[in-house]
Amino acid sequence: MSAIPMTSERPAFGSIALKAVMALTGLVLYGFVFVHMVGNLQLYSGPEKINRYAAFLKATPALLWGFRAVLLGAVSLHAVAAIILWRRNRAAPPDGSASPDLQAATITSRTMYWTGPMLGLFIVYHLLHLTVGSVHQGPFSHTDVYSNVVIAFSNPAVSIFYVLAMVALGFHIFHGAVSLFQTLGLKTPKYEKPLKAVLMAVSTVIVVVNISFPIAVLAGLVRPVAS
Ligand code: HEM
Repeated sequence: MSAIPMTSERPAFGSIALKAVMALTGLVLYGFVFVHMVGNLQLYSGPEKINRYAAFLKATPALLWGFRAVLLGAVSLHAVAAIILWRRNRAAPPDGSASPDLQAATITSRTMYWTGPMLGLFIVYHLLHLTVGSVHQGPFSHTDVYSNVVIAFSNPAVSIFYVLAMVALGFHIFHGAVSLFQTLGLKTPKYEKPLKAVLMAVSTVIVVVNISFPIAVLAGLVRPVAS
């Protein structure tokens, strides 16, 4: 007689449904990271352009707060679904007798479970650093985004922290995007290799561009505004 019960109680919210939540919210966050990176490229065009862009984004509070609510909702759902899946994966029997949908949910890279929390901490720090300004070292202005960034990255320790966080971001968005295509059933054996190559290229571009900001400040290519 088998020690494994023939019928297992199905969780209220299926693991595939949780993966779908992760995929949808991940897509929203991926889009934000990309658009944010493109917006930050204006750092290379000098203070007027990026400060005008920031002022434009903040000009309609209803739009700004609506957008922030969507982002916060996406991050929260993404994290909660990840924690539930992680707990289920830990509880799953190691002999492969878990239900098929739970097994599907376990097919994800382990790196997600350390890069995810690391990014969560980065986002909290980053908001306090460059949006609220409470942990920003040096003068902080809600209208002079350019100077905030230049002052911030002039500190090598801060820059190194950002570079490390961007490397974690790269791992996370690469594996996350592969996982997304798998959830959508689009990671077929025929397309797996080219798909991974494209996702790796996009993730690398995002990491390299983001890392270029602290490096450009430290190298003196992006300088403080002359007073
Ligand atoms: C080196 C790379 C980055 C730079 C230079 C940067 C710069 C900035 C700056 C200057 C702001 C404040 C904008 C303002 O007040 O108008 C900001 C806000 C923000 N950043 Fe970044 N960022 C970087 C990477 C990231 C990454 C990787 C994420 C997400 C994983 C992120 C998420 C956010 C969020 C959520 C906000 C708040 C947006 C809002 O005001 O609602 N940033 N960032």
